[in-house]
Amino acid sequence: MSQIEAQKRVLSGMRPTGRLHLGHYHGVLKNWVRLQHEYDCHFFVADWHALTTHYEDPEVIEESVWQMVIDWLAAGVNPGSASLFIQSRVPEHAELHLMLSMITPLSWVERVPSYKDMVSRSKDRDLATYGFLGYPVLQSADILIYQAGNVPVGADQVPHVELTREIARRFNHIFGRDTGFEEMAEKAIKKLGRKNAKMYRELQRDYMERGNQESLEKAQVLIYDQQNVSLGDRDRLYGYLEGGGKVILPEPQALLTTASVMPGLDGQKMSKSYNNTILLREAPDSVGKKIKTMTTDPARVRRTDPGNPDVCPVFQLHEVYSDDETKAWVREGCTSAGIGCIDCKKPLIDKVLVEQQPMRERARQYEENPDLVKTIVAEGCEKARSIAKATMEEVRSAMGLDYR
Ligand code: TRP
Ligand code: SF4
Repeated sequence: MSQIEAQKRVLSGMRPTGRLHLGHYHGVLKNWVRLQHEYDCHFFVADWHALTTHYEDPEVIEESVWQMVIDWLAAGVNPGSASLFIQSRVPEHAELHLMLSMITPLSWVERVPSYKDMVSRSKDRDLATYGFLGYPVLQSADILIYQAGNVPVGADQVPHVELTREIARRFNHIFGRDTGFEEMAEKAIKKLGRKNAKMYRELQRDYMERGNQESLEKAQVLIYDQQNVSLGDRDRLYGYLEGGGKVILPEPQALLTTASVMPGLDGQKMSKSYNNTILLREAPDSVGKKIKTMTTDPARVRRTDPGNPDVCPVFQLHEVYSDDETKAWVREGCTSAGIGCIDCKKPLIDKVLVEQQPMRERARQYEENPDLVKTIVAEGCEKARSIAKATMEEVRSAMGLDYR
């Protein structure tokens, strides 16, 4: 696949460890929904990743897999635009994981921020396992097997994408240099014809000597536009541009989701572990109950006491859901004791319900007809496998494993 096509491929995954909540919706899913119109998107259920931490209670995973896909569909991920699949249904991920583990220095994985921390902090699970250490290498395999250019993730996952880039670079460096790479690359340039060859060399020089990124991109387009270049030559020409060997596994980029943290019912970040969530498909009366029982400014004991929205978790939710006018109404009414907390919460409940309404509607057909979900996933798995298989063929051949 060409570098340019790779830039258009997006891959991301989520671990099936419970029902999704509005934090997932605002933090990740809204972004996926937006990206699916612009990119070739593949979203997957990272069930093996869930197993690295939940190996003692795999029932949670089994339950969550299908519910999570329904949550995605409910949020507006459109199976016509994006493909949805399950990691364990594409066993090539495991093969690439194994191959990458051969070349990944131990110090790289031990140094992943959060690793040692997670192992020592996790009291109820033993995470000092081989599988958990390999977590980010498996994630690298997930990404690299699709030669994805872009990986939409939250800030916590950026170190994993960085590691993926380093592993890809190392892989290309070790296995992308077949003997005589340079001569073969030079031959490939000649095959471009005099005019294009001259242009290739000029752009390459401008990039190598002056670091001109624009020239690199122009040269990539030049290669992309060639009709009569073999796949091997194409990879050589791309790799040679940057001075290295063949680019077998292109380096991905993190597409950072703008880090507005979704507040939970208690003002902390919304998270299952804080028990402060509203589920994506929470029943309407339960949404009402949860918001009505939210704690407010603790100093506002009586209805006649003025309050301070800046220390109130309810106001934080207004920041996410309400327009300026409503927020001004809250501020004025709260600080003057003109409105009560029940009045303040009412428009918020309405906004959340309105947001969830289309999600509940979209989910209904899938809840009623689970086969529909299975069909969507089966199609996604098939697409994923065909890409993954092709990459593995290149990988095996680069590693000299294609003897038969
Ligand atoms: N580690 C990610 C998380 O916890 C999930 C994940 C697994 C992932 N493989 C991935 C995300 C590949 C992006 C790309 O959220
Ligand atoms: Fe919080 Fe609203 Fe009550 Fe003020 S009126 S304390 S912002 S819930």
